[in-house]
Amino acid sequence: MTKVLVTGAAGRVGANVVKRLVGAGVGVRAMVLPGDPQAAKLATLPEVEVAEADLLDQAAIDSACRGVTHVVHLAAQLVRGDTPVDRFYDINAFGTLRLLEGVLRGGGVERFVLASTDGTYRPGDPPAVPLSEDAPQEPADYYGTSKLLGEIILRNHAAQFDIPFAMVRFATVVSPEEAVEQFRLRWVRELLGRAELGRDSNIWQLFRGRPDLWKIIDEQVGGDADDRMAVGLVGPDDVPWTLHLLDVRDAVEGVFRALTEPGALGGVFNIAAARPTSFVAGSEIIADRFGVPCAVVRMPMTWRLEMTIDAARRSLGFAPKYDFASMVATAASAVGNDVIPARVWAGGV
Ligand SMILES: NC(=O)c1ccc[n+]([C@@H]2O[C@H](COP(=O)([O-])OP(=O)(O)OC[C@H]3O[C@@H](n4cnc5c(N)ncnc54)[C@H](O)[C@@H]3O)[C@@H](O)[C@H]2O)c1
Repeated sequence: MTKVLVTGAAGRVGANVVKRLVGAGVGVRAMVLPGDPQAAKLATLPEVEVAEADLLDQAAIDSACRGVTHVVHLAAQLVRGDTPVDRFYDINAFGTLRLLEGVLRGGGVERFVLASTDGTYRPGDPPAVPLSEDAPQEPADYYGTSKLLGEIILRNHAAQFDIPFAMVRFATVVSPEEAVEQFRLRWVRELLGRAELGRDSNIWQLFRGRPDLWKIIDEQVGGDADDRMAVGLVGPDDVPWTLHLLDVRDAVEGVFRALTEPGALGGVFNIAAARPTSFVAGSEIIADRFGVPCAVVRMPMTWRLEMTIDAARRSLGFAPKYDFASMVATAASAVGNDVIPARVWAGGV
C-alpha cells in the first residue's frame, strides 16, 4: 500500500501537500519538527499519521522512514534570524543525506521528491532572464548553497543506490493571505531593508555598493507615506522589476506531479506561475483591490528574477492556475479558499 512520507509537513507548502495527498486517497505520514506549534494545521486531517523527527536526529528519521513507499522532502531551514550558519548546511544538506540514509535503511522507496529553489541560481544577480533548469547554479549565499548541496547529495545517492527521484525548484512560494501584503510600501521596504544584512542576505548582489536603497524610495514617496500604499519599482530605463511568484496551490500541484508522473523520474523542474509578476502590475492590483494610493518608484538598477517552466509543462503536464491577481482575489474572498495558511496560531487553524 502506498504511504508517502512528507517532511516539513507543518510548513507553508507541506501542510497543503498533505491535504492534497489525503484528498487523493493516499496514505500519508507527516514528519514535523518535535514540538512545532504549526503542526496544529494537521489537526483537521485525522487520517494523517504524524511523526515527530528532527532532520538532525538519524534515529528519529529512520523510524519515520520505516514502511513508507514514497518521500516528499520539503523540510528546510529558510530564514536566517538567529539561526547559526552551520544549521543551514546541517539541515538542508546533511539533513537530506540523513533522510536518504533513513530511506535506504527502510528498504528503499519508489520515488523521492526533493523541493529545491530558484535560490540555487543566485537570485540577487541571476545568470539569465528567464532562468531555465540548465542555467548555472552558483548561488553565493549559504541558503542557496545548502539547498544546492541537497540536490547534489540526492543525485549521488540516487545514482549510487538506485533511488528513483525527481526534483522541483520553486519560485517564491506565496500563500494567498501573504499575497495581499506584497507590492506595498512596507513589503518593499522590508525587501530592500535586507541590504542591512549585507552578505547575510540571499540577494546581497542586488544591493552591492547600494546599502541604502530604501532611502531612495522614501525620497520619492515621502518619509511619512502610508506603509500600506502600493509601490511599483522600475529600473533607470523604466523597465519594471519582476519577481516570479508561485501560488502555494500550484506548488502543491507541481509536487504531486513530480511524485506521480512517469516523466518526472530523474528530472529537475522549475515550478512557478505561468508568468512572472511585474512590480508595477502587482502594485496596481493591490491599489485597485484595496483602494490604496499607488506610486511608481525609479531605482538605480533593474531586478528581474524569472524562470521558464517549459520542462514541467512538457514532462509533468504542469499547468499553473494562479497568478498574482487570482491569489489576491482568493484572499479577499470569504468563499472558495480552502488553502491552509502559511502560519496558524498555536491554538489551531
Ligand atoms: N517559501 C518559498 O518561497 C520557497 C521558495 C523556493 C523553495 N522553497 C523550498 O520549499 C520547501 C518548503 O518551503 P516552505 O515555504 O513550506 O517553508 P516552511 O518554512 O513553511 O516549512 C519548512 C518546514 O521545515 C521544517 N523544519 C525546519 N527545520 C527542520 C528540522 N531540523 N527537522 C525537521 N523539520 C524541519 C519546519 O518546521 C517547517 O515546517 C523548502 O524545502 C524550501 O527550501 C521555498
